[in-house]
Amino acid sequence: MTATFDFSGKQVFVFGGTSGINLGIAESFAAAGADVAVASRSQEKVDAAVELLGKAGGKARGYALDVRDADAVEAALADHAEAAGGVDVLISGAAGNFPALANGMSPNAFKSVVDIDLLGSFHVLRAAFPHLNKPGASVINISAPQAFLAMPMQSHVCAAKAGVDMLTRTLALEWGPLGVRINSIAPGPIADTEGMRRLAPTKEIERQCIASVPVRRLGTVSEIGDAAMFLSSPAAAYVNGVVLPVDGGWSVAGASAAALAMTSPHMS
Ligand code: HXC
Ligand code: NAP
Repeated sequence: MTATFDFSGKQVFVFGGTSGINLGIAESFAAAGADVAVASRSQEKVDAAVELLGKAGGKARGYALDVRDADAVEAALADHAEAAGGVDVLISGAAGNFPALANGMSPNAFKSVVDIDLLGSFHVLRAAFPHLNKPGASVINISAPQAFLAMPMQSHVCAAKAGVDMLTRTLALEWGPLGVRINSIAPGPIADTEGMRRLAPTKEIERQCIASVPVRRLGTVSEIGDAAMFLSSPAAAYVNGVVLPVDGGWSVAGASAAALAMTSPHMS
């Protein structure tokens, strides 16, 4: 954590919070005093995250589930709300990604990513709403630059994340009057993450990617944690329905440069 926030006594639930960026977000909130729950498919990853988060701060809780299973998501949130008394900060970040040309993808390949990223987000948001502590709850969807930058070999992710951001915007209209703010964070290329291992698997691709970022480096998971804490803090009390790029200026550096640096090397 590089910024200072106090989330003592707050309940934070991070879907997809057992590795990478989302685990980093969970750790940031735990270090700021929150009780943090995480959920993802792998029981092993859930157990490891709960152990880590327990050491970082307040109480930690975990659920092994697939966000494509609406009933499982609903059950976990109900269980959490009964045990912990609701949710103050909800992060929806479960996602899947692999580089593949649209022409080379089966219908099920495209569907898998849309089902995890977009439908899964809907499951999480829908099931969480009754348990959000209102007024004042903060909801954050983890988006990606693919939501607004077309990238070759990312048609599934581009479509899914664009949908996620439209969920953010429409629910900002529906939930704002009910005391809930909802925003998206669109991380740029973040170091030491599964997303980068999949999209930038070689040093050369990573070098090209870094060269296209105006601040000339990859981001860190703690920088995304800082942004999530800012959006959930009183400092952002009037921020609702935005998609916040946290990307060193990657998305304004020129759409073609940013988009092509990452995935074009896969095509040659
Ligand atoms: C083409 C592929 C493929 C590939 C899988 N499929 N990988 N098609 N190219 N590389 C196809 C399979 O053949 C299958 O279609 C369908 O996708 C579903 O595959 P399964 O393995 O059965 O699915 P599942 O076990 O549900 O796994 C979902 C997954 C997987 C998305 C495919 O990769 C996963 O679990 N990912 C989670 C972790 C992850 O991706 N993290 C990175 C997030 S980063 P058929 O037709 O054969 O049944 C991110 C943004 C990064 O989102 C941005 C960086 C700037
Ligand atoms: P990651 O470590 O693979 O994180 C994905 C998380 O989601 C894992 O905890 C994974 O755990 C969980 N998950 C995946 N499918 C799930 C499902 N069907 N149900 C429940 N949980 C599921 O990847 P990451 O790179 O850190 O990405 C995290 C988020 O940041 C994603 O939303 C991604 O789109 C976004 N993002 C990443 C980057 C980047 O540079 N890495 C850039 C922009 C946006 P299990 O395997 O246990 O399910």
